[in-house]
Amino acid sequence: MAAEPFLKRFATPIQTLMTLALYVELSVLGGIAAAPGLWVFGRVERAAAAWPSWSRLVALGTGGFLGYFTFTLCLVLVAGVFRRLTFAKSPLGTFPYYSGKGIQWASYNAIILLVRYACINWMRVTPFIVVFHRLMGMKIGRRVQINTAVIGDSNLIEIGDDTVIGGDVTLVAHSAERGSLVTARVKIGSNVTVGLMAMIMPGVEIGDGAVIAANAFLAKDTKVGPGEMWAGIPARNLAGR
Ligand SMILES: CC(C)(COP(=O)(O)OP(=O)(O)OC[C@H]1O[C@@H](n2cnc3c(N)ncnc32)[C@H](O)[C@@H]1OP(=O)(O)O)[C@@H](O)C(=O)NCCC(=O)NCCS
Repeated sequence: MAAEPFLKRFATPIQTLMTLALYVELSVLGGIAAAPGLWVFGRVERAAAAWPSWSRLVALGTGGFLGYFTFTLCLVLVAGVFRRLTFAKSPLGTFPYYSGKGIQWASYNAIILLVRYACINWMRVTPFIVVFHRLMGMKIGRRVQINTAVIGDSNLIEIGDDTVIGGDVTLVAHSAERGSLVTARVKIGSNVTVGLMAMIMPGVEIGDGAVIAANAFLAKDTKVGPGEMWAGIPARNLAGR
């Protein structure tokens, strides 16, 4: 039996098994990343063991948060190193959900989701989110600010210097279309402002100095020229109205 019909026929059991396998993989990654944070918490717990009750509780709470933040930074590194060792990436092209490339796409993005759901909101507008996406394969210039957790397919995305990705922007290089996943590179130039909650779809290119309005929807393959301002759903060049 050919590989893809087999994958499609047994899609649900295979997806279930793969999900369980992913939970194990992500648990190990999370476990490695959690160890230093647990060590930090343990140190605080021992140091405060003989303290009076309220100050001990405050010390334990502080130790818990310190341990958590230590975990978040370690998770970024562990996820990045793991993706480099395994050469994980979003593949380019058009392929069925139930295919080798579909599995490759899901496995890679699961690593991004692990970090997104565990901690990425604490890293918005910090250098740590930039480091994370660089480790996941994104090309990012200097002084870039990223204020969103909703990024997928990092290895297919490029961002130039001094660009701002606004709050809760959706930035992805894939779309699900009639049974297939379609991926295409996204290129955002330098000095670009992507407004609050805008959506950037696969194949989009934004020239240097452009502004994307808050809430704009840049449909797939949209090309925004340098210095242009686009707004709306779907987004249009404001100068061309
Ligand atoms: C698009 C934007 C830059 C326009 O600001 P501006 O240059 O000061 O221009 P104006 O406010 O005069 O608006 C120009 C036109 O665009 C329209 N417009 C403005 N924002 C819009 C939006 N988000 N969606 C649709 N149309 C919009 C205005 O209604 C106006 O239309 P009109 O000429 O028919 O009256 C601004 O509204 C915006 O969305 N900025 C995003 C900021 C942001 O989110 N930064 C990152 C997070 S802090």
